Parts: sequence; C-alpha cells; structure tokens
Amino acid sequence: MQIHVTSGAPGALRAGALVVPVFADGRLDGAAQAADSELGGALTDVLASGEMKGQAGETALLHAAAHGTKRILVVGLGKRESFEIASLAKYAGAAVRYLGKRNVTAIAFALPLEAAADQQKAAAFIVEGALAGTIDGTTYRTEPDKPILLETVDVVATAGAHEFDRAALESGIERGRIIGEAVNFARILALTPANDMTPKHLEQHAADIAKKVGLTFHALDEAQMLDKKMGSILGVSRGSDEEARMIVLEYNGDPSSSEKLAFVGKGLTFDSGGISIKPALDMHEMKYDMCGGAGVLAAMLAIGELKPKVNIIGIVPSSENLPGPRAMKPGDILRAMNGKTIEVINTDAEGRLILADALCYARELGATKIVDAATLTGAMVVALGHSAAGTISNDDAFRDRFLHVAKQTTEKYWPLPLYDEFSTTVKSEIADLRNSAGRAAGSLTAAAFLKAFVGDTPWIHLDIAGTAYTDSETAWLAKGPTGYPVRAFVALAEDAATPAAAHAHNGAAKVSVN
Ligand code: BES
Ligand code: MN
Ligand code: ZN
Repeated sequence: MQIHVTSGAPGALRAGALVVPVFADGRLDGAAQAADSELGGALTDVLASGEMKGQAGETALLHAAAHGTKRILVVGLGKRESFEIASLAKYAGAAVRYLGKRNVTAIAFALPLEAAADQQKAAAFIVEGALAGTIDGTTYRTEPDKPILLETVDVVATAGAHEFDRAALESGIERGRIIGEAVNFARILALTPANDMTPKHLEQHAADIAKKVGLTFHALDEAQMLDKKMGSILGVSRGSDEEARMIVLEYNGDPSSSEKLAFVGKGLTFDSGGISIKPALDMHEMKYDMCGGAGVLAAMLAIGELKPKVNIIGIVPSSENLPGPRAMKPGDILRAMNGKTIEVINTDAEGRLILADALCYARELGATKIVDAATLTGAMVVALGHSAAGTISNDDAFRDRFLHVAKQTTEKYWPLPLYDEFSTTVKSEIADLRNSAGRAAGSLTAAAFLKAFVGDTPWIHLDIAGTAYTDSETAWLAKGPTGYPVRAFVALAEDAATPAAAHAHNGAAKVSVN
C-alpha cells in the first residue's frame, strides 16, 4: 500500500473517494465546508434531511461526477466537544470498511480542524485505523471473501483555511503504518486456528520477527524449562502432545540504562479446560486464548521498528491445555520456578499457571517493571463485557501512568482493586497457593494468584478476556480478534522512553480513567 501526504484543493484530488469528517453538531468547517461548497451544498442537505447526524462511525456517500474524486464519503466523528485524536483511527476504519467493500481502492482522508493540534498523531491514527479496517479473516475458505484492497491512502494536508504540516503528517504516517501492521499481525496470529497455531508455530513467528527488525530471540523447550524448574507451565503442557515453549524477544534501545520493561502475554494456543473440561458451546473460541501472547509479539515487532530509547523484553509462555493421558489432574500439586507450590483445583485455570513461571522468568531476566496481558477469566467478560480490559496492579502510580497513556489509544482499560484479602483467598490448605478460588471476584483472585510471582517488582495485569476478540463487528473493525493489547503496549513503551520531565508536563498526577 502506498501512503502519501497530499496538499491542494480537495476538488483537485485524484482518488476513488475523499473522506470528510462531520461532527454531531452538524457545523461544517475545514474540509467538510470546502467539499460542501464544491458540491453545491450537498453535505448541508444530507445533514439537514437527517440522512446522517454525524454520530461516530455513521457514513453517507455522495456521488459527484464533476469532483476530482467522484465520490465523497462523509463519516461521523461524534461530539465535537469530546473529540479525541485517537478516534481518527475509527473514522478511517469506518471509511475503509464502507468503501473497501464497494471496490474503492484509493482513498483520500481529510482531517478535521481539531486535529491540527497534534498532526503527527492524527496521521498515525488515520493510517493505523485504515490498515485495521482492511482485515477480515476468511483466508481458509477455498473462495475467500474478496479482501478489502487498499492500494493508496492519501492524508490531505489542506483543510479549508488551515494548512497542515507536511513533515509532521509524514512521520505520523510511518508510525501509523508500523502500529497498524502490528495490530493486524496480532489479529492474524489469533485468527489462525490451533491446528496451525501451536506453541512451536508461535516460536517460529517470534524468531521471524527478531530477524526482521533486529531483536534478540530465544525460546526454552520443555527440557530447558525443566532445568529452570518451571513446573507450573510444564504441568499445563503435560496433557498435550505439542511441546510448550517459553518464548523471549529482547529489544535494547537504551544500553546505558538498567531499567527493563517486560511485556508478558498468555500464549495458550488452545484451551479445552483440560481434565476440568469446558462445555462444548463456544469452546472453538479458545483458539483465541493466545491473544495476549500474540499482542506481545506484535508489540515487539512495532517496537523494533519504532526504536524508542528504552529496554523492553517480551515473554510468551505458550502451551496447549488438553486432557491427554498424562494430563495434570485436579488435586495435583505443581512447583513453580520460584519454588512456590500450587494445588491445582481446576485444570481450566491454566492461564495463571503458565504465567506464574513466565513472571518469575521475567524477573530472572532483569525486568524492573512488568505488564502482563491475558485472556485470563470468564469473570472479566461478566464484569466489563467487551468494552474495557480490567487493569490490576501492585503499584498505583505505575497503573495510573499506564491508564493515562493507554487512554490516548483506541483501547480501553479500567482499574480494578487488588485487596489483600484476595491473596488470602488463593491460599491452599495443603500447598502455598490454589489455582482457583471459586466464583466470587474471579478476575481479582486470579490477579492475586499472579501477584505471588512478581515479588516487589511493579506490575500490572491486564485481563483481556472480554476485549481480545468480539463476536460482533463495528463500523471500523471486523468481528474476531481486535488487536488488544498491542496499541497500549506500544504506547507504554514509547512513554517509558520519554524523559521524566515530559511526564510531569503531561500531568501524570491528574489522571482520569475513562
Ligand atoms: N481462557 C479462559 C478464560 C476465558 C473464558 C477467556 C472465556 C475468554 C472467554 C481461562 O483459562 C479459564 O478457563 N478460566 C476459568 C478460571 C476458573 C476455572 C477459575 C474461568 O474463567 O472459568
Ligand atoms: Mn482455561
Ligand atoms: Zn485459558
């Protein structure tokens, strides 16, 4: 795909369609106003008639034979007062999905005047959203749905009276391409069914990424995990013929610093529940139980290209959870890498078991801060649905910084408490811990279990069970894997690379979560 910054009058553009933004207040300015006058008031008519109201993701297509682009797609941006720059990803995604299905392969995007304040980000979100809009996921059909083919994307640097800054837009385009491609990479890994996406396949993808963008790669096989006394992940893996892997990618962008941020992602390539087997209904969706791991690999891919001045390590514990003849059984006791013993109450609470060893390993590899992402609990879907990922931490300041940074992406995270009593709840009568503590506060007792493996390292746990994939499409994204937590991980990595003085300036103190 070719992506350019274009300037000049909208009417002189050559593309399959020009996309212009309108807000819910119906006031036309910038590019929308320019297009309206070029089309003799056609946008004014569309809004006046109520055909569209400017709500987020709403679209109206105008045909204009005399206009350079022949088609104008008006896309709603919602309320002007609450405009956030990240919503441009949804604006672009909605346009691509609408136009792409109608065979338009060259799309020019006008920017709202509101984007003038942060043009680098505006262009980045446009390109990220446009790329994310192209993916569907019928590649296994002998006759797949015709993919959305985007040949050219133009970001239009002229919006009515306002001239945009070409250099800022161009650097944003590159950033958006990197993040958008990473998001799609994670989504494609997740879509790949478990017979093609085994721990070894995931390892191979990690090795490929390392080669492509110059990261350090290693992976432990089961014999090496045994040497490291990783009895917890090995317990999960016992029921499957596929060998588990502990996959590691390292990026050293700041060799002068001893700080190292670890991203740890649950890479359970298929979760049948094991001996505590899951009901058949929707079990096929458990191929998505590696979305956290895919997110880590994809974030490392983007980080390798963006090259922030920071040290990041990505760790993906990867296994299947099957009820084979050698499978772990309820009542079994496992010993994790840090020596802690775990009574397996429910073999379906396997995510925390593979993460336990991965968190220990992150610390052994020198992590000074850890963020994990996991499709960890069904209870998470009950609590926050598919709207936001639970965010649970042993360090309030770190968590608040994360929430502040993630809020500037299209991903949503919401804080949940980690009370000491949850740590009491996950104690076992005969071992140090039990891996299941019943239904009450299921996502939080799961987090309390993980907490036992991070020691005093600042740590955030993201439960993406409800957000990593959805069964309904939106105007801007197909149904299926969403790319969580790639955008937040990349944003946090970049934030960690910004000097502390800039943090104070950005107002870490006045965090709001929403
Ligand atoms: N992978 C599942 C969690 C899950 C459920 C993710 C539904 C997405 C949608 C996890 O391994 C699991 O099975 N958790 C159990 C834990 C319980 C046995 C304590 C659960 O949530 O039921
Ligand atoms: Mn499970
Ligand atoms: Zn699972």
